[in-house]
Amino acid sequence: MSQIAAAKETLNRKGYLDIEIDPSLDLIEEIQKLKKEKNAILLAHYYQDSEIQDIADYIGDSLGLSQKAASTDADMIVFAGVHFMAETAKMLSPQKKVLLPDLKAGCSLADSCPAPLFKKFKEKHPDHVVISYINCTAELKTLTDICCTSTNAEHIVNSVPKDRGIIFAPDRNLGAYLQKKTGRDLVLWNGACMVHEIFSAEKITKLMMRHPEAEFIAHPECESHILDKAVFIASTSGLIRYTVESDATEFIVATESGILHEMQKQSPHKTFIPAPPNNTCACNDCPHMKRNTLEKLYLCMKYELPEIIMEDWVIEKGVKSIDRMLEISKQAGL
Ligand code: 13P
Ligand code: SF4
Repeated sequence: MSQIAAAKETLNRKGYLDIEIDPSLDLIEEIQKLKKEKNAILLAHYYQDSEIQDIADYIGDSLGLSQKAASTDADMIVFAGVHFMAETAKMLSPQKKVLLPDLKAGCSLADSCPAPLFKKFKEKHPDHVVISYINCTAELKTLTDICCTSTNAEHIVNSVPKDRGIIFAPDRNLGAYLQKKTGRDLVLWNGACMVHEIFSAEKITKLMMRHPEAEFIAHPECESHILDKAVFIASTSGLIRYTVESDATEFIVATESGILHEMQKQSPHKTFIPAPPNNTCACNDCPHMKRNTLEKLYLCMKYELPEIIMEDWVIEKGVKSIDRMLEISKQAGL
């Protein structure tokens, strides 16, 4: 069996191509060449490793990435992010080849809401509009009326007539934050993100005391007792923008640590401190996001594997909730 055939066989087990790479290759140069050769666009989320962010054609938050996936004229979309993001890209551009360097780059939030269980939950509230955070599976999107991201969630909730009930899934923390912001009574699914639930309020308080000039900012996927301490709460792109515009020169940041790379790039003279988590390894990396590496990216572009393959009915039914989100976002100028 050839090396490639053997590596393809491991895809199911490992989720990525495992082929030896010539150590003398300059992977960054090779990836840039492959992009041109294949008319491919490399999309990366702010939580990716800095070396991947630096070679991406577009870096963004979940809304920006889906807008880019919908509008690109590239033939191939290579997604340096997690599975639900690549699925969203495929649903928006089904005629294009969408690649994800590692199929096991999942999401704890998406996993916390299995579609069959959610279907039963939804049946208990038949008149409610379903809003799902885009961090969910494609199957969940088929049970959703409107998707949202943390950038547009408030607009999406406010777009629903006041006399209609709303189910919000899967993130209970973002849902609780939206209840406070909009005054709407949302029926919440009990899911959460493993990265944003590990911050320690006690350690953050101590850090704030040691850095009295620093502003504490947080992503709305954090728990409410953490958000209560924040001077500013927003999506990844919103947090980056805030650090550029604020007069403060020091920030304690409660979200995945990959974001610090872009913050530092945009404000080289400012100081960014990752908020401490409640664990001993002191790490707030997303293990799913960090499954992508330059090596996997190179192999995935060279062999055009692993590819995102989805059933037609899932694409056709699920994409409606994403299209609706993009329409409302456009109307709101987002
Ligand atoms: P945003 O970049 O849209 O804020 O999403 C954060 C996130 O958790 C992505 O997985
Ligand atoms: Fe999912 Fe949380 Fe990782 Fe984002 S940071 S991909 S929500 S597990």
